[in-house]
Amino acid sequence: MRKLTLAAVVATAFVVAPQTGWAQTPIVLKFSHVVANETPKGKGALKFKELAEKYTDGKVKVEVYPNSSLFKDKEEIEALQLGSVQILAPSTSKFAPLGVKEFEALDLPWLFKDEATYDQAMKGPIGKWLFKKLEAKGVSGLAYWTNGFHMTSANRPLLSPTDFQGLKVRISGSKVADQYFRVLGSIPQIMAFSEVYHALQTGVVDSCENTPSNYWTQKFYEVQKDITVSYHAHLQYAVIVNTKFWNGLPPDIRTQLDKAMAEATDYTNSIAAKENEEALADIKKNGKATLHYLTADQKKAWQTAMQPTYKWAKGRVGGEVLDLLAKELHLEMN
Ligand code: LMR
Repeated sequence: MRKLTLAAVVATAFVVAPQTGWAQTPIVLKFSHVVANETPKGKGALKFKELAEKYTDGKVKVEVYPNSSLFKDKEEIEALQLGSVQILAPSTSKFAPLGVKEFEALDLPWLFKDEATYDQAMKGPIGKWLFKKLEAKGVSGLAYWTNGFHMTSANRPLLSPTDFQGLKVRISGSKVADQYFRVLGSIPQIMAFSEVYHALQTGVVDSCENTPSNYWTQKFYEVQKDITVSYHAHLQYAVIVNTKFWNGLPPDIRTQLDKAMAEATDYTNSIAAKENEEALADIKKNGKATLHYLTADQKKAWQTAMQPTYKWAKGRVGGEVLDLLAKELHLEMN
């Protein structure tokens, strides 16, 4: 039913616009995402809107739809391919339904030592190599936006790997994340972001992982008593567009949009760490959930327990992306 509706919208987007030679302005770009406006991605989308409308002198209008108000996780990528939404910034953990599993390598636990290491890696060959994988799917990658590192939580303290035994954990889409929770004895489950609060509240799942800004804005701290500030994996977004739509835009407009995107990217990546620090401070001040920090020994025990994920990942994402990451990060992947 939804597919039929989307197909109708595509017909409008691709048949009407070229016939009129983009004569009817403004050109409307729908930018859909699943998080709140008050997050790094939410603010980045609004920054892009501000700059795109300014640089194109109002010839482009960007409509931002936050909080899954237009599409939920899986639907939004399908909608982009169909042409009924023009810009998305999904977590790179969500690309497998598109037929591109290689991005999941970025979800390996403790892959990036810190934010600077992550940033440098994505600006290097690996970032471009991953975007190339999207081309065959009719999707173009414009930028990477960061949201820092994941915490994890439950209604009991998660301090030792054995604390994960039997927990039903919500994950966002990546089989690599599925695996690192599975090796700890948990039962991971992929679920749309908009459904997580309710699922935690009603006990459909017991646990989740996410960054401080998402815990704060989705109020996960209300339904999770214990949050471990583990920073065990990284959350990043790929800003993507429908290639046919993007390449069909008038060149002068596209130049201005590229400029707006470059600046919105710098802005988003520059605020992410501070946004997450502030969100963590807000969660602490709120006092509903207890924050736990791992000792060096506890962290080592988590790393050792999750280590088999690396070997397993080769069968999932392939050796090429792992080799590229190993080279970039000076790591041994085994
Ligand atoms: C999630 O589903 O947990 C994340 O992808 C949400 C986000 O930050 O986009």
